[in-house]
Amino acid sequence: MWALRAAPARLRARPGPSGRRAASSSSRPAAAARALVYAQHGEPLKVVELKNLELKPLGRSDIRLKILAAPVNPADINMIQGTYAILPKLPAVGGNEGVGQVLEVGSAVTTVKPGDWVIPADAGLGTWQTEAVISEEVLVGVPSDIPLLCAATLGVNPCTAYRMLLDFEKLQPGDSIIQNAANSGVGQAVIQIAAALGLRTINVVRDRPDLQKLVDRLKGLGAEHVFTEEEMRKPEMKDFFKNFPRPRLALNCVGGKSSTELIRHLGHSGTMVTYGGMAKQPVTASVSSFIFKDIKLRGFWMSQWKKDRSPVQFKEMILSLCDFIRQGQLTAPVCSEVPLQDYQVALEASMKPFVSSKQILIM
Ligand SMILES: NC(=O)c1ccc[n+]([C@@H]2O[C@H](COP(=O)([O-])OP(=O)(O)OC[C@H]3O[C@@H](n4cnc5c(N)ncnc54)[C@H](OP(=O)(O)O)[C@@H]3O)[C@@H](O)[C@H]2O)c1
Repeated sequence: MWALRAAPARLRARPGPSGRRAASSSSRPAAAARALVYAQHGEPLKVVELKNLELKPLGRSDIRLKILAAPVNPADINMIQGTYAILPKLPAVGGNEGVGQVLEVGSAVTTVKPGDWVIPADAGLGTWQTEAVISEEVLVGVPSDIPLLCAATLGVNPCTAYRMLLDFEKLQPGDSIIQNAANSGVGQAVIQIAAALGLRTINVVRDRPDLQKLVDRLKGLGAEHVFTEEEMRKPEMKDFFKNFPRPRLALNCVGGKSSTELIRHLGHSGTMVTYGGMAKQPVTASVSSFIFKDIKLRGFWMSQWKKDRSPVQFKEMILSLCDFIRQGQLTAPVCSEVPLQDYQVALEASMKPFVSSKQILIM
């Protein structure tokens, strides 16, 4: 997978993990790009640099694309830090998600044409660059009638939200779900997709000075209830659940005490799906929640889902999500658009607490 990423110029002669080499000669001068590259793992602000990149020549099955916009996600940061489950060969271009416009296609490419929009089919393409030459098989076409920021943030977070809502419990309209970090990109997608499916949501966020503003914003997306982590621990929650159905599904991307609270409020035989660990603390469940509530603890990783399914199934999901977008039921998360050259601002903001805005690099 990593060999398919356009490599920094000085690496072009080195074979990638699949043993492929970038073609060594071309009749045309090689196309150039600007890219955010890291040569070693470490603190993103220290190891990421904006560099010139020579693109490999267009092969028969390749697509040359102009990357339009690419978000900074927690997984991108963890990859740079060297703590993510999959790590690229170094040096690597950062970024796993984004949307590009096709500029040119190789003679064997059948699925897209110049002008079309594409997104990565999986992690690891290195999207933080102005242009790239990438194999057709690792890109998926997306309709270009959806907003740019929706397309740039479509392939990971809304997909994760959609799968977790559909694949773990058979939920019916009127059923409830509970989630922490409800203001995250995934959380905002969960709120909107759940509302579109008629599900009732309990959304947990961390307390902050401008809490009411955040609560109003999440309610504007369709959140039924928003509580702080502290409120979730109060005895008054017992009264709340006298008039509200206990959740059948809990979605956890925090861990630690926050996930213990989700489990405590989960209904009998409900499922908690862990998909992230922002607090870097283990998930702890009480013995009684297993014995008396028979809860189920599961995990989800979008990359694994994609590996286990066909590209056709991924494309079907993308088209279903585009339908939500067109119907006004799914919007992009709150975003800050940052020009590529100001990448340090975006990296810094993406690692700060309480920012509540997805940093999007605009190429
Ligand atoms: N398993 C998968 O396939 C998959 C797919 C997508 C995302 N994820 C994971 O899902 C999580 C959210 O991703 P995203 O792109 O939606 O994130 P995001 O938009 O960047 O938002 C980050 C969220 O994490 C919260 N947070 C940060 N540090 C925290 C801490 N120490 N304790 C509690 N909350 C904390 C933030 O809350 P504040 O506003 O309070 O700072 C914010 O709600 C990440 O862990 C990511 O790796 C997993």
